[in-house]
Amino acid sequence: MSEKPDLRTSIGGIILKNPVITASGTFGYGEEFGTLVDLNRIGAIIVKGLSLSPSKGNKPPRVVETPCGMLNAIGLENVGIDTFINKKLPFFRTLSTPVIVNIYGKSIDEYARLAEIIEDTGEIAAIEVNISCPNVKKGGIAFGVKAKSAYKVTKAVREKTTKTLIVKLSPNVTDITEIAESAVEAGADSLSLINTITGMAIDINTRRPKLANITGGLSGPAIKPIALRMVWQVAQKVKVPVIGVGGIFSAEDAVEFFIAGATAVQIGTANFVNPRATIDIIEGIEKYLEDRNISCLSDIIGAIDTKN
Ligand SMILES: Cc1cc2nc3c(=O)[nH]c(=O)nc-3n(C[C@H](O)[C@H](O)[C@H](O)COP(=O)(O)O)c2cc1C
Repeated sequence: MSEKPDLRTSIGGIILKNPVITASGTFGYGEEFGTLVDLNRIGAIIVKGLSLSPSKGNKPPRVVETPCGMLNAIGLENVGIDTFINKKLPFFRTLSTPVIVNIYGKSIDEYARLAEIIEDTGEIAAIEVNISCPNVKKGGIAFGVKAKSAYKVTKAVREKTTKTLIVKLSPNVTDITEIAESAVEAGADSLSLINTITGMAIDINTRRPKLANITGGLSGPAIKPIALRMVWQVAQKVKVPVIGVGGIFSAEDAVEFFIAGATAVQIGTANFVNPRATIDIIEGIEKYLEDRNISCLSDIIGAIDTKN
């Protein structure tokens, strides 16, 4: 094949040059990775979850390594939306890569207010609504485990924004398709899944939990099969683009998600192990398509064959 494969993909209104996005909370505010990675090559950058006021997050220890993954209970430490807009966002004017802002509120009104503030900020391409953080006492996951509250938060944000609206779903539920359908019904343009899976670790000498928060969110390769299964289930149920997240460390992992029905993928924990993971994965996806003479990424999206 002479021409490079077309990696472009669309996530509810925005067209990305390639389907590889950084996952919230694993890539700072983008700038931190600027000396390590050519940020202009990444499909989109999702920044650390932002709240109305700055937050210090939970007490340490907040991170524990586990076999094939990690537990974190950062508790959404962030600079707050105003500081982000004034101090962090100007950096993105120097980049061609779209920035997506991940938001978190303690109440529905807070989510709506955040959306209102972002709506007036031209540079932000899309909003990702985190209704799935397991590490905060108020808000977060509380909204993501019931279809009714997922609907209410999504609707409140939808009413305040014309920007592309992505809702990030929690795996800590009985039936993720039910929550997915409610978010779409309320106006989500796209869904991202999954956030971390609640877990814990104990120090057997002290008998104390290894995280000050006691429980934390499990991420990394350990959760990939669960994320993949959920993406496959949700992609069959909704008509909006689904973004796959969870344990994606290689191009092969990403391709599995596309075949399961994901239109794009997010790279999270892998950034801590290999800061260049996003670029390696973009190059690997391109090679996978080239080697098989597939001209467009879209040809493999949802191409799973489940026939007997
Ligand atoms: C240290 C850390 C911080 C995170 N912070 C956020 C956050 O602020 N907002 C959010 O929606 N997800 C957050 N996440 C979840 C990730 O974006 C992602 O959904 C999850 O880690 C699964 O993907 P992975 O296995 O590729 O890391 C965080 C994850 C980690 C490991």
